[in-house]
Amino acid sequence: MAKLRVGIVFGGRSGEHEVSVTSASSIFMHIDREKYQPIPIRIEKNGAWSYPDRDPRASNVAEAIQQAKTTSAAAPRSSDPALNALRLDVVFPVLHGPYGEDGTVQGLFEVADIAYVGNGVLASAAGMDKAVMKRLFASHGLPVCPWHSFVRADWDRDRTAVMQQLAPLGLPVFVKPANLGSSVGISKVKSSADLIPAIEVALGFDRKVVVEAAVPRAREIECGILGNDDPEASVPGEVLPSREFYDYQAKYLDEGSRTVVPADLPPGMAAAVQRLSVQAFRAIDGSGLARVDFLVNGETGEIFLNEINTLPGFTNISMYSKMWEASGVSYTALVDRLIQLALARHADKQRLRTSGL
Ligand SMILES: Nc1ncnc2c1ncn2[C@@H]1O[C@H](COP(=O)(O)OP(=O)(O)O)[C@@H](O)[C@H]1O
Ligand SMILES: [Mg+2]
Repeated sequence: MAKLRVGIVFGGRSGEHEVSVTSASSIFMHIDREKYQPIPIRIEKNGAWSYPDRDPRASNVAEAIQQAKTTSAAAPRSSDPALNALRLDVVFPVLHGPYGEDGTVQGLFEVADIAYVGNGVLASAAGMDKAVMKRLFASHGLPVCPWHSFVRADWDRDRTAVMQQLAPLGLPVFVKPANLGSSVGISKVKSSADLIPAIEVALGFDRKVVVEAAVPRAREIECGILGNDDPEASVPGEVLPSREFYDYQAKYLDEGSRTVVPADLPPGMAAAVQRLSVQAFRAIDGSGLARVDFLVNGETGEIFLNEINTLPGFTNISMYSKMWEASGVSYTALVDRLIQLALARHADKQRLRTSGL
């Protein structure tokens, strides 16, 4: 049987470029070579795409990309002859943050009619915007902590009114740009004097801001989702940040953050987390994969959905992979399942009628 040709699209224009390179290297290294021929496709920070003009022989993604001879100046179109020459059966986008995890690159694959791994345009976009995501969760009756969101125009027009809307949240609160990741632009505000500066920091990253009540002594519990219309949940894991909260420094710079998989949870809580994760995935109409993150009140045990990540970190030692490993699905099997889910979703779409009566 001929091997399926899998384009691994990585890098990208977001601040999470380096994380993406690491995830792509892991996939390239561990993908089942009996079944698949991986082809690296790198998006530079300036948005240019590069891909090899012949099948890479190297087993390491950096070397493979060195062999890339063809560089297209901008994002390729489906009619791009060099891209066509790669004869891809499916693409695996491992891009985090804006232009990768937010539905934009997924839209490109839709237009090009290429099967791709993971969430579609809608789920990706909804999962990227913390305000839209919370509204979807809330409308499905899922537990989210009290929050308020507003846009720069509201703030510029009448900040006293915005401050009044924020008052019921009390303190401390978390102030976040609506569309970002890696905790960039997020502040924990404990005194009212710090609220305005924190809002201005967040508005520097996005025109939309989310302010939410802090969950006391929050435990950070995460759960992996795998599947399309019948999603399965992994065993939950826990992150123990090295700092007061899981900020950028704790995520990427300190060595001290720890993860515990499976998480040590009171009876019944693991099942509740798994059930909520599946519901959250359905609320955004997800497909393929997601990592659902929770904040559990350390005093009362109350569970809140924090966010859904539609393209979580995907190295072989990332939380997502570890939670599936602990659930009996190896990294190589995970990559295989995700590719098969992408092909199934694409085949499903081919069956739809495209004309009226
Ligand atoms: N309401 C909250 N209560 C307690 N901690 C929070 C709250 N919101 C965020 N945090 C802390 O901030 C971190 C980053 O927030 P999050 O919304 O997950 O942003 P990102 O998308 O950048 O990961 C969380 O992992 C957690 O440590
Ligand atoms: Mg987070």
